[in-house]
Amino acid sequence: MSVNLIGKPLTRVDGRAKVTGAARYAADFNQPDQLYAVIVSATIGLGRVTGIESAEVERTPGVAAVIAYSNAQRLPYLPHKAVIDPAVGERLHVLQDDTVRFYGQPVAVVVADTLDHAERAAAALRISYEARRPLVDPADPRTERIAPEAADRSRGDAETAIADASVTIDEIYEIARENHNPMEPHATIAAWNGERLTLWSKSQYLVNEQAEIAAVFGLPVQNVEVVCPFIGGAFGTSLRTWPHVTLAALAARHVGRPVKLVLTRKQMFFTTGHRPRTLQRIALGATPDGKLLGVVHEGAGETSRYEQFTEALTTVTDYLYSCPNVRTQYRLVQLDTGTPNHMRGPGEASGIFALESAMDELSYKLGIDPIELRRRNEPRVDEAENKPFSSRSLMQCYELGADRFGWAQRTPEPRSMRDGRLLIGMGAATATYPAFHAPANARVRLLTDGVAEVEAAASDMGPGTYTSMTQVAAEFLGLPLEQVRFRLGRSDYPQTPSHGGSWTMASVGSAIRAACLEVQAQIARRAVEDAGSPAFRASVDDLEWSGGLLHRRGEPSSGLSYQDIVGRTGVPVEANGFAQRDPEVAERYSMHSFGAVFAEVAIDPDVGTIGVRRIVGAYGIGRVVNPLLARSQCTGGMIGGIGMALMERTVLDPRDGRPVNAHMADYLMPVNLDIPKLDALFVDEIDPHVNPLGVKGLGEIALVGTAPAIANAVFHATGKRVRTLPIQIEHVL
Ligand code: MOS
Repeated sequence: MSVNLIGKPLTRVDGRAKVTGAARYAADFNQPDQLYAVIVSATIGLGRVTGIESAEVERTPGVAAVIAYSNAQRLPYLPHKAVIDPAVGERLHVLQDDTVRFYGQPVAVVVADTLDHAERAAAALRISYEARRPLVDPADPRTERIAPEAADRSRGDAETAIADASVTIDEIYEIARENHNPMEPHATIAAWNGERLTLWSKSQYLVNEQAEIAAVFGLPVQNVEVVCPFIGGAFGTSLRTWPHVTLAALAARHVGRPVKLVLTRKQMFFTTGHRPRTLQRIALGATPDGKLLGVVHEGAGETSRYEQFTEALTTVTDYLYSCPNVRTQYRLVQLDTGTPNHMRGPGEASGIFALESAMDELSYKLGIDPIELRRRNEPRVDEAENKPFSSRSLMQCYELGADRFGWAQRTPEPRSMRDGRLLIGMGAATATYPAFHAPANARVRLLTDGVAEVEAAASDMGPGTYTSMTQVAAEFLGLPLEQVRFRLGRSDYPQTPSHGGSWTMASVGSAIRAACLEVQAQIARRAVEDAGSPAFRASVDDLEWSGGLLHRRGEPSSGLSYQDIVGRTGVPVEANGFAQRDPEVAERYSMHSFGAVFAEVAIDPDVGTIGVRRIVGAYGIGRVVNPLLARSQCTGGMIGGIGMALMERTVLDPRDGRPVNAHMADYLMPVNLDIPKLDALFVDEIDPHVNPLGVKGLGEIALVGTAPAIANAVFHATGKRVRTLPIQIEHVL
């Protein structure tokens, strides 16, 4: 195709809808006759509900129902296939018994004619409990650590290698619990029509929400429809379908009317997942010239009592550097808390903080430049899998990033750089994330007026999926952008994987490409069978597409447009596309993105305030579909990384597990004043193996590596090695 839309820095096709308010988010789909539901959250951390005094509240103005375990419908909670982890355990069953498993668990729902009435009634509801003290601290010696499946890996003998090494590091790292806190809270509007249910609901995985709610209510999957055309940020919190969706549907059925349910900001800290608090140990052993001899990485993350949430906490350590002796171990700590889930570069972001902090520390012990230390341990293949990387541009990323950042100006000694009275520090760290590719479907329909409609059950939580998918479809159809209409956000569109894991372009984009190529093949067949067409009786193999025209090879001037061909018959052409990774290719290559992150901080030596002055990230992510969107993704990820490094932390009260800072005033996140100049660069990287588009995915990797780059800069500025996130003023004083 000669259109060359892939690679163009196009602005968002949905930008106008977003800034004019025309974009409709879940809570905007108000239904006629709708009532409002408010969740009542448990105010104990463990125990049971002994009584709910609902009679008086039920008589207050506008209240339609108070639903609790005593009067809630019993739900079958069947298993289902389209499940997003955790796969081990059983999800929370809401209002099915009197047990309270964690603070904030829903114990009742109040439904009323207005939100105000529902909120007032919910606040007035008196609930008595029998409370016990929960266990909410993973460092508590009474906790037990369990080993999830495939948690441990080992090559060589890491312990012996480290014991024999002349230079060693052995340290503990801790990362706080964090909550996703997107702008848009979780919201669901549920409407029943007999045994059919429509959910306008915030979701990163529509077909899973459909399957989950169908299974919870024991309905055929096709009886549930999920609609979500826009998402106001999610960061992973909407990958799973959480209990409030069940509660919205349950309440709507209970009152026989559509019900709208929006979580409060406080409730966003209870039952919609969080980045698990993690405790890690890294031990390194190296030769005096910096060659790694042994690496041990032990990590533990919190999970709930009822489900095992696992993430890729220690896996990067298996393949990131060349080392003959590596042992990684992963454990879960079961606590009286809600189940965690994926959040912004899950697992990798936490694990690499420990590893890259340790590598930085090792570089100072050895007196070797941190980038040079990485270079000396650059592997030729993935040594854990013993197979080549499909592509790996880590050293090019370091070169490009160091050049832009001005790493050469850095003086290596800690506390050696100043700007007036401020201490200046420069740090670097490696980023990496798997290049996933999940099975996906898409449909392309070419209408008789030459417009292409493209559909997939995907989501767009902000990366620009509407735009980038339109680009891919226009490119492979050879149509101008304006003639392509890409739709997502309905569970009855062709099935896609979750909108997460940085795999949407690899997966859905490849499916769209396949559908476009199939449409073209169908149209070519139609043209050669059409007696009135100049291509009549030509061999399909002699035809080619260019510039949106079908023509005999090498004769573009005699071409026919889609509109000519489809319009002549008056019948649209439709094709489904399916794409998945070739299992043989998956077997042969190790596929990951790599990047290098550089941060500069300025620290006030008297009061300890830490300001990030600039961040440069250089990434090797295969083909960049839209550099403008890609840059935006990266700066967003860096901002998340600043939050992880310096601000974000959900603090639990040890007495009852209550998140004490469950609001945006005390849960600190970077605001404009905290965000410096951010720069994202991409190395030219061609990866012919990952997928037909050659994209390795972007999103998560932009967060991975940012926190250790900042922590390493803090050490360079102050000489204080902080191994706890978020880094706080008191750590550097
Ligand atoms: Mo991302 S944490 O997979 O939404």
